[in-house]
Formats: sequence, C-alpha cells, structure tokens
Amino acid sequence: MLKKKILLGVTGSVAAYKAAELIRLLRKNDFFVQVVLTKSAKQFVTPLTLQALSGNPVLENMWEPSEGNGMEHINLSRTADLILIAPTSGNFIAKLANGLADDLLTNLCLARSCPLLVAPAMNVEMFENNATQRNLKAIKEDGVLISGPDLGEQACGEVGLGRLINFESLMLDIKKALTPQIFINKKILISSGATVEKIDEARAITNLSSGLMGLNLAKTAYTMGADVTVVSGNSNYELPQCIKKISAKNHEAMYQSIVSNIENNDIYISAAAISDYKPSYTKGKIKKGSNLISIDLEKTKDILSYVGENFSHKFLVGFAAESENVVENGKNKLLSKNLDIVIGNEIKESMGKTKASMVIIDHDKNTILPKAEKDIQSRIILEYIFKLLSKEKAHDTIN
Ligand SMILES: Cc1cc2nc3c(=O)[nH]c(=O)nc-3n(C[C@H](O)[C@H](O)[C@H](O)COP(=O)(O)O)c2cc1C
Repeated sequence: MLKKKILLGVTGSVAAYKAAELIRLLRKNDFFVQVVLTKSAKQFVTPLTLQALSGNPVLENMWEPSEGNGMEHINLSRTADLILIAPTSGNFIAKLANGLADDLLTNLCLARSCPLLVAPAMNVEMFENNATQRNLKAIKEDGVLISGPDLGEQACGEVGLGRLINFESLMLDIKKALTPQIFINKKILISSGATVEKIDEARAITNLSSGLMGLNLAKTAYTMGADVTVVSGNSNYELPQCIKKISAKNHEAMYQSIVSNIENNDIYISAAAISDYKPSYTKGKIKKGSNLISIDLEKTKDILSYVGENFSHKFLVGFAAESENVVENGKNKLLSKNLDIVIGNEIKESMGKTKASMVIIDHDKNTILPKAEKDIQSRIILEYIFKLLSKEKAHDTIN
C-alpha cells in the first residue's frame, strides 16, 4: 500500500523542538514526511536535524525551488494527503485566519486541496487573547481542523492552556483527518474493562478483561467522527483525553452509569466484562482460619437485558465471550437480550490478548473476522454498524 504523505509545517514556537520526536513517530506509523519550516522556526530547530529524521530535504524558501517548474508553493500541497502544522504559532494562526501568503508554508496552506490540521502551542495569555480566539474561530469555520492545545506547565513557567497537544491525542486527530467521518453527529456509549466486586476491605473478585477492545473501539469511533463516552471499569490502559470517561468500578456503578447515559447516545456497545455474581461484603478483613472457607455469591442484575428491554430504539451491540459454541451462544444472546448485533469471541484466545478472531452475529447472518489486532477488528465492527444503520435508515425512508 502507498504511504500517506504528511506535509509537516513547523512554526516559531518554543515547542518546535518537539517536531523532531513527532517526525519519528509519524514515520513509525508509516507516514511519508516532508517538512516545511517558517523562518522563525529555524531559530528553534535546525533544518539538518529535521532532514536527518524525516529522510527528506527540509524546505523553507519558495524563491529557491529545489526542482521542477519552480511552483513548490502549489505542487507540494497537491501531493500531500494532509498538511499538519505542529507546533502552530499564534502568529501563524493569525496569518491563516486572514489568508496571508507571504512565505512557503502560508502559500501551501492557501493553495491546498487536502485537509489542514493545526496544533497550536503558545503561552496561555497569547492563546486566551481575544485576537487568537477570534482567529481560531475563523479558521475553524473555514474548515481547518484544530488539535489541542493541552493544559499544563509551560516553557515560560506559567500554567494554563497552550501546551502542544500530547502525541497520542495528536496521532488520533491525524487519523481522524484522514478517515471518512461516517459517525459525524453520532454519539456512541461504550462500556469497557473489568468490574471489581469487593469481598472484604482488602480482597475482591474481578476478571481478566484488559479494557483493550473497549479502548480500540473508542479510539476508532473517535477517528470516524463520533462523540465517544466510555464507562470504564478496571483497565490496563489509559483513555486519551478526546474520549469522555465515566469511571465505574463495580456492577452497581456500571448499571447506574450506563442506564443514565444511554438515552443521550445513538449507539451503545457493551464491551465491558461485568460481574454476573457479587460476593456478600464482609466488613474489615476476613481472618485466616480453617483450610476451607466459602463466599456467598449473589446474582447481579443483567444490565444488557435491561438495556435491550428499555432502550431498543437505540442501536445495541453486545459482546459474547464464550468458552465454547461461540456462534450458538452469541445468537441466543442476540435474541434473548433484544440486541442489534453480537460480537462473539472465544475467551481463551481473546480475553487479555491484543489479537483475536471474532464473529459478527446479526439477525440475518454471521460474519467471521479472522484473527487480527483489536484495532483492526474495531474498524471492521464499526463499519459494519454503520452499514446496518444506513440500511435501517433507508428502510425507514421507504416506509
Ligand atoms: C524564545 C521565544 C519563544 C517563543 N515561543 C512562542 C510560542 O511558543 N508560541 C508562539 O505562538 N510564539 C512564540 N514566539 C513568538 C514567535 O516566534 C513569533 O511570533 C514569530 O513571528 C512566529 O513566526 P512564524 O509564525 O512565521 O513561525 C516565541 C518567541 C521567542 C523569542
């Protein structure tokens, strides 16, 4: 497959040094990177460093074209899949807002036919200044995509909004800029991770869910344009800042959080491993005594059944982690819980693992997904949901 080409603009922000690390990350993610510097950016970082890391000569001067017809200020933007400006100075945002074209990078932005994503980085007062906010609003209305900034301690010693966005979130925004926005204006609620039910003050019953599937679904849905909220139990992974998180560590918290948020969403994906039983709680710590003790377990409410009974007007997705008869058990779950689709998978080869084979079970057919990374499976599952939703919509329109 041909590599996607990112034209990386670097402007005169003190965060320009981070562009060096960013280039490495982009290349690691299989992007071809062409760097363009503003004159001020050269005060912060040398072209040679960025050339060495990107593997391409760094461009900065439109009056000294390196090859061809001398029209690099246009040509370069035609071959790019995305122009990314990271970091973007307050000055550069002002230029973009006014359509200025007084150097190579501003010309490329004005002449572009591909998406433009800017990642502002400046002092908090510069960022919050009315002029900067006005300029950001203007470029947003012009269709420019904006990533960040982050809140935190700044190079100048002040604290506030204005730090260059962290790279994990920036990478998601880059993917989002390059992905068809099939879930634009859609809200997706995902429950993810494992619940923990306390036995006593020190001990608990939990399960082996790592939260990776929910995380991948959330990240992928975000890149497809959805507004994503995750109700998160225990997880080995942190959610990126662009995903709203509601912490729900046990069954009761999961129940409350899902039921109170589902109406405000279009799609609910139940990817959490929620306890079917919870122990009776003993105050303090159970003392070591005889060789054998027993713990009474009480059946918990079936959240997904409740959701299927009361929210069938939403698109409902269940996961069925089974030790055997995946398709048969998944189909039973689909029908008995009144769901739109169920994703079946075998516990021993999916729980806590980064790769898994799965089967999408809907009311018409079963679709087998051969073993792959969970981010790939997430994309396939979300595209499948989109197709079913589009079919439902077409059916509603005809009737
Ligand atoms: C030490 C120093 C640090 C600076 N850091 C920033 C910054 O982080 N963000 C910003 O918007 N401007 C910063 N500036 C100001 C810009 O470099 C200045 O506005 C410049 O004209 C930007 O040019 P450009 O947008 O063409 O790259 C800094 C200036 C200096 C001297």
